[in-house]
Amino acid sequence: MIEETKTIQVMRKPSSQRMVDDDAQAGSFRVNRGAFVDEEVLKRERDAIFDRCWLYAMHESELSQAGDYLARKVGGKPLLFVRDRVGTLNGFFNACPHRGMTVCREKSGSARTFTCFYHGWTFDLQGKLVALPDAAGYAGKPDAPEKGLKHVPRMEIYRGLVFINFDADACSLQEYLGNAMEYIDLMLDFGGDEVEIAPGQQRYSIRSNWKLLVENSIDVYHAHSTHNRYFNKFLPDMGLPARTWLNVSDQAPGRAIALDNGHAVAETMVRSGPLLKTAAEELGEVRRKLVEKFGEERASRIADYGRNLLIFPNLLFISTWRTIRTIYPTAPGYMEVDAWAFLPKNESSHLKKLRMDNFISFLGPAGFGTPDDVSGLESCQRGFFEGADTLWSDISRGMHRDPVASDELQMRAFWRRWQTMLDGGPAPDTYGDTPPNSQADACEHGAACNGGNHE
Ligand SMILES: [Fe+2]
Repeated sequence: MIEETKTIQVMRKPSSQRMVDDDAQAGSFRVNRGAFVDEEVLKRERDAIFDRCWLYAMHESELSQAGDYLARKVGGKPLLFVRDRVGTLNGFFNACPHRGMTVCREKSGSARTFTCFYHGWTFDLQGKLVALPDAAGYAGKPDAPEKGLKHVPRMEIYRGLVFINFDADACSLQEYLGNAMEYIDLMLDFGGDEVEIAPGQQRYSIRSNWKLLVENSIDVYHAHSTHNRYFNKFLPDMGLPARTWLNVSDQAPGRAIALDNGHAVAETMVRSGPLLKTAAEELGEVRRKLVEKFGEERASRIADYGRNLLIFPNLLFISTWRTIRTIYPTAPGYMEVDAWAFLPKNESSHLKKLRMDNFISFLGPAGFGTPDDVSGLESCQRGFFEGADTLWSDISRGMHRDPVASDELQMRAFWRRWQTMLDGGPAPDTYGDTPPNSQADACEHGAACNGGNHE
C-alpha cells in the first residue's frame, strides 16, 4: 500500500525533464502545469536560466550624463548602474562590500559619489572606495579592489540596449542574440533615428507565473477574444471599423518565427490602427524618410509590420505600442513586470504624444489591454493550483503547417529552450518545429549557444 502511494506521488509530480511533452510527429506540444506552480522549478529557473542568460537591464539613454545613476533589480538582484566621468557605463551590485547594506537607496538621479548609510563608506562613480570613517582601523589599503563595489560579472550593449549576465563565462551578447539582432534592428529603426526611453516607466505585479506573461506577450491568437472591448468598442469609438486592424485569421499575412537560442517573433502586416488614424500624415512622412534611408523593401519591413519579439528568457519588444517589457518571478505564482516606452530621438513632441497616447490607451494601468491580460493570467493561475501536476496546457497550434502569426511556434521555441536549459543538456540546432536530425552541424556558439558555459 505504501509502495503504491509512492508511485502515485511520483506520477503526480513530474521532474523538470518531463514538463514539456513535444511530439512533432503527432503535432502535439504540451506543457505540464506543474511548471507554473512548483517551487523546485522556480529554483532551477533561477540557477539555470536567470543566472546564465543575458538579461536586459536598461537603455543607455536613461543615463546620458556623467554622474547619472539608476538603481534597479535585474534578474532578481539589486543593481546600480552609473555613468562615470569618462563616459563609461558601470554596473555594480547595489550592496556595500562592508556589511551588505543597499548603497544607493534612490531609484535614479545624479551623484558624484555614493555613501553607504550604515557606516559611511563612500564610493566613486567607478565603484572605488574613496573615503571611510577612521580608515586607520583597517590593516590593508582602504582603496583595495575588494573594498570597492562589486561589478556585475558581464555587461554588453547592443544599439543602446544594456544587457548584463551573472555568468562570467557566458558567450558574447552578439552570439547570444544571434539572428534576433535583425528583428531588434527592425524594432528600433521605426522612426529612422536611434531611440530613447520616454520619461517614466510602468511597474506592476501579476499573481501568476512569469511564463504565462511570456506566452501572452507573443500570443496573437488571444487578441480578439481577451481584448474584445478594445477591438469592438474602443476602435469603433475612434472611428475605426471593429476587428479590422489586427487580422488573426489563418490567411492573414504574417508569420511566427523561431529564432536562435529560444528567441522568437510573431509578425503581422499592419494595415490600419489607431495611430495610423490619429497620425497618418506624420507617419507618412516618417515612412518616406525610411525609404530614403533604407530603400523601399527594408522600409516596408520596418513600417508595415507589427512584431512581438521575445528575447529569451524575459525580454519582450512589442512594436505596436513601442514598448520594452521585462518579467521576473518572485514566487511561482507571482511576477513583477517593468515596462518602458521607447521613441525615436528628435521626433516631434506632437508625434511623441500621439505615440504615448496609443501606448497608454492599450497598455496603460487603465488601458484597454493590460488589465484584461492581468485578469486572464491570474485566472489561469488560480486554476493551476487545483491538481496542476496532472494537467497539461496545449501549445500545439500550427505544428502541422507553416506557422502563421496566430499560431504558437513562438511559444514552443521559448519552451524548448526553457526545457533545454533546465535539463542542462546540449542545445539542439533549432528550437523550431523541425526535429533536429543531427547536432554535428551546430556551431560552437551561435544557434547552439547555451547562454552560459561552453565546456
Ligand atoms: Fe493581451
